[in-house]
Amino acid sequence: MKALITGGTSGIGLAMAKELLKKNYEVILISRKEGDLDELKKEYPSSHITFWSYDLSKEEECYRLLDETKDIDFDIFINNAGFGDIGRINKTSLEKEVNMVMVNDVATLILVKSFLLRFMKKDQGRILMVASAAAFGVAPYMNVYYATKAFVYSLAHGYYRELKDNKSHVTLSVLCPGPVKTRFEETANAKFTMGALSKEKCAAIAIKGLLKGKFEIVPTMKIKAGHLFSHFVPKRMISKALRKQSEIKD
Ligand SMILES: NC(=O)c1ccc[n+]([C@@H]2O[C@H](COP(=O)([O-])OP(=O)(O)OC[C@H]3O[C@@H](n4cnc5c(N)ncnc54)[C@H](OP(=O)(O)O)[C@@H]3O)[C@@H](O)[C@H]2O)c1
Repeated sequence: MKALITGGTSGIGLAMAKELLKKNYEVILISRKEGDLDELKKEYPSSHITFWSYDLSKEEECYRLLDETKDIDFDIFINNAGFGDIGRINKTSLEKEVNMVMVNDVATLILVKSFLLRFMKKDQGRILMVASAAAFGVAPYMNVYYATKAFVYSLAHGYYRELKDNKSHVTLSVLCPGPVKTRFEETANAKFTMGALSKEKCAAIAIKGLLKGKFEIVPTMKIKAGHLFSHFVPKRMISKALRKQSEIKD
């Protein structure tokens, strides 16, 4: 059994790779830098672990990944690579934000749609799209990140319904965690003010849900309750409540 994981070299992606290795999957991990995979190989000496470098902020690299994997029969595709950014509108970098849209949304569309079509052809396979609890809200100072994750969440809902309408055996899941302790904070220049879940716990819940074919995977009760609550509250009140979710470093 083979799984392809984008952003599989760090944080939630790496922790999900470990969950799948425990279940005897072969994993292929995609990111720009290999990171410390020697550790992982030492931990799982008899497993097949492969790393391939692609920069998913570039469309041509997404298509290269598709081309170079076209003859591999994957069972699972996890679209996880992504990052955020926090700051005041006059301090955040537009270039970083465009890159974020490329990785979080454009690469997600290209890869998820292509893997869906591959899996639909054989009527088999599981896809996990990593969104975020950010998809449920709107927030100042993390404007673009929230918008990118709303795109992922909305796309996942649509694909899920089409699969159901087609009576497909392909499963599609969407993971929506709140804060998780990973490299995310450093990359986003953020410091969470809310308690963060461990990546191991988040990954265990994600893989359990994925293998069960569960659609929406929200790891904690607090986020589930927040999501429910958000249906009854005007968006401008949500953005007011969320403006202190992270310290803003000037
Ligand atoms: N941590 C949280 O609080 C949290 C909460 C909800 C959702 N999420 C989502 O979870 C996913 C994983 O994030 P994480 O928290 O685990 O962060 P992380 O530890 O920073 O991992 C991000 C992964 O994505 C890869 N990546 C980033 N840019 C890439 C690019 N241009 N091309 C290819 N790979 C790229 C990184 O590798 P390289 O840098 O080597 O490329 C790394 O493997 C993201 O989609 C994030 O939005 C995180």
